[in-house]
Amino acid sequence: MATFDEIHARSLSDPEGFWGEAAEAIHWSERWDKVLDDSEKPIWRWFRGGRLNTCYNCLDRHVKEGNGDRLALIYDSPVTDTVRRYSYAQLRDEVARLAGVLAARGVGRGDRVIIYMPMIPETAMAMLACARLGAIHSVVFGGFAANELATRIDDCSPKMVLSASCGIEGGRIVQYKPLLDAAIMMATHKPATCLVLQRPQERCELKEGRDEDWQAALEGAEPHDCVPVEATDPLYILYTSGTTGQPKGIVRDNGGHAVALKWSMKNVYGVEPGEVYWAASDVGWVVGHSYIVYAPLLAGNTTVLYEGKPVGTPDAGAFWRVIEQHGVTTLFTAPTAFRAIRQQDPEGKLIGDYDLSRFRALFLAGERCDPDTLEWAEKQLKVPVIDHWWQTETGWSIAANCLGIERLPVKSGSPTRPVPGWQLEVLDPDGRPLPRGQVGAIAGKLPLPPGTTPGIWNGRERFVKTYLSNFPGYYETGDAGYLDEDGYVFVMARTDDIINVAGHRLSTGAMEEVLAAHPDVAECAVIGIADRLKGQLPVGFLVLSAGVNRPHEAIVKECVAMVRDRIGPVAAFKTAIVVERLPKTRSGKILRRTMRSIADGEDYKLPATIDDPAILEEITASLGGAGIGGKAG
Ligand code: COA
Ligand code: AMP
Repeated sequence: MATFDEIHARSLSDPEGFWGEAAEAIHWSERWDKVLDDSEKPIWRWFRGGRLNTCYNCLDRHVKEGNGDRLALIYDSPVTDTVRRYSYAQLRDEVARLAGVLAARGVGRGDRVIIYMPMIPETAMAMLACARLGAIHSVVFGGFAANELATRIDDCSPKMVLSASCGIEGGRIVQYKPLLDAAIMMATHKPATCLVLQRPQERCELKEGRDEDWQAALEGAEPHDCVPVEATDPLYILYTSGTTGQPKGIVRDNGGHAVALKWSMKNVYGVEPGEVYWAASDVGWVVGHSYIVYAPLLAGNTTVLYEGKPVGTPDAGAFWRVIEQHGVTTLFTAPTAFRAIRQQDPEGKLIGDYDLSRFRALFLAGERCDPDTLEWAEKQLKVPVIDHWWQTETGWSIAANCLGIERLPVKSGSPTRPVPGWQLEVLDPDGRPLPRGQVGAIAGKLPLPPGTTPGIWNGRERFVKTYLSNFPGYYETGDAGYLDEDGYVFVMARTDDIINVAGHRLSTGAMEEVLAAHPDVAECAVIGIADRLKGQLPVGFLVLSAGVNRPHEAIVKECVAMVRDRIGPVAAFKTAIVVERLPKTRSGKILRRTMRSIADGEDYKLPATIDDPAILEEITASLGGAGIGGKAG
């Protein structure tokens, strides 16, 4: 057996040989001409000339290979008291019929389809039905407001929108339809058809001429076969936060994605076909795309789609109940979920109520994993707990402890080593590699492995400028950290204004844009401060326009409501403080980092160029007044 070091070294010295071999595990209707095409440098394309269908590889091939009876998907919904199971053959049939519905409404290869749906099996079916037709789906997370949905509708101009009457958030019903109607009203582009699934928990009105009932459309629909597409054709667009309110449509291709994801199931997660794999995330995020839907199905696993929370549905034993009931071998979630469980069951007493004998490993990602949470999980579960680091842009992990290759020693606070295909460097602001142990910008040497994004929808220039220009020859991750003497990577913070709230990626810049639109706000800043449960929470600082003498509480309340209304509940923006001034450098730059350090109770260095140091005392006092000054948490 080759060691991790040998495999990693080969992936870098011979990427075409390495990924060409991995590609043999995928069914191609036409073989590629070139494994790695550099003709569009600095963007490399994988498997140029190859043709395949991702849905075929996820479903039909398993049925053809005699595994049609194997369980493909288990829908577990404590909030509706439902468990539903689909074999590979059943899921293939459902998806083929839904694809027939879409095709009959004119959706074909290259058309965009927005999916704005909760955590139900039909959402995964919708994604796979698009893939079956070669259409490009764009899933929008349910926690976003109508305005965010409208921005995405205008950016990718979908022919159709697939939605549902409602989602269920713990005990709360979230009506999707009013948000969808409002978004379409706001958007300039108008999708021709909205296919709406009526859930029994809350039905909605359908708009004549535009909306169609999902179930009615399925009755009488003809199943549609898989349409082979180019390996380089987009499979999906997933919008993620950038530094402004304008979200970035991260594009994923078909060929590289299928190859890398299938490879990762065995090599990163160490699972075998037929085993039950559970990513407790949301299909609206990249983790959900990759590890609830595509990777487990590509690899012939059983995936669990869970409509519930780690706590409160009904208690902090929910995860253990699912693991026991469905025989889960591997769980993937965000550290925040474990912090929530620990908060309610600090001794892990509920774990003892369940048989976890088939459970082999826990993978964590989505935010920095604090060593305390990792060690608690290890102690309670007595299985390897693997922190791994990745991003929407990369589609799968950048760094991990590859359980399927060789289990490396764990270092708390580190997602271990770059995975095969990734060569990381830590760079100084001029792009020079820094010595081991020194903190700088973490960058990946080009070309990146398959599965990573080839670009931003409608935005080649924006892509090159955002990710590939500051450090020529590298992909700029936007994360800062260091590599230690053993090559372990430590991811410490973002270099931009992105924050991570309960594993959800959010832009403070986008929140500032909303606050700045309040008529009484002259200037504002939003920072992410440390929070014991959610990792980070946004806090707004507001400077009011001269002459405004309304009560501060009223203005703060309006600002909080505005962020919820324009970005969505997921922003978790609940605190804002009115201040006299914001601390700035003499050149006018707001000292967000210093403010964050004050809020988190960390030592901070006063920049030499600050215009008025006294203001920091005011900020410290106002944070204390709001109950968040001093210590983190
Ligand atoms: N649709 C509508 N609203 C949603 C939503 C969705 N899909 N997802 C979240 N929201 C709402 C929540 O209900 C909450 O609303 P509230 O302000 O009215 O209470 C708000 O958005 C903030 O959500 P969240 O930050 O997730 O907080 P929470 O208190 O509901 O749950 C955790 C906290 C830790 C239990 C939860 O975030 C969690 O399980 N996270 C880990 C798993 C994960 O999904 N990670 C993502 C990447 S792996
Ligand atoms: P997203 O695109 O939503 O997956 O968020 C990606 C960002 O989350 C990364 O750029 C990091 O800032 C953060 N992140 C994800 N996983 C980890 C991890 N294991 N350790 C530290 N930060 C992480």
